[in-house]
Amino acid sequence: MFSRILVGVDGSECARRAFDAAAELARASNASLVVLCVVQPPMLVGQRKETAARFVRILEREAKMILADYAHEADRKDVKAETRLAKGHPAKVILETAHAEEADLVVVGSRGRGGVKGMLLGSVSSAVVQNSKVPVLVVK
Ligand SMILES: Nc1ncnc2c1ncn2[C@@H]1O[C@H](COP(=O)(O)OP(=O)(O)O)[C@@H](O)[C@H]1O
Ligand SMILES: [Mg+2]
Repeated sequence: MFSRILVGVDGSECARRAFDAAAELARASNASLVVLCVVQPPMLVGQRKETAARFVRILEREAKMILADYAHEADRKDVKAETRLAKGHPAKVILETAHAEEADLVVVGSRGRGGVKGMLLGSVSSAVVQNSKVPVLVVK
């Protein structure tokens, strides 16, 4: 039914469930999986440029570890997967990557790592649901 599935991961438990669902679907429909982690450069006011750059490098290193873990997991589940590391605004990058990769399904968790308790959808998942041109699966 789907041929290329994009899943957004941020290191949260909910994103892990999103990945599991995406991998399951990919296997069932013999689709390929793109696992994307977006590093969002933090807003640092009044810091030296070098301090901000160092912070971004730490976040990139963490994102690489998250992606390596998922690559391994996909392998274990016998699912064809590629990983993508990108920088920018997560929802915007997820939508752009879905387009560039010709994904026909986008999978995200309902919540992520940050945010306010009690909210049904995080800001990234709600922006993806609102703006995606292809179907979106939101995993709780
Ligand atoms: N930086 C990111 N890179 C890739 N996917 C992300 C990123 N941030 C969030 N997502 C996806 O969006 C889902 C919801 O996260 P989000 O909307 O950020 O909620 P919260 O406000 O609780 O952090 C996550 O489970 C994940 O699938
Ligand atoms: Mg978040």
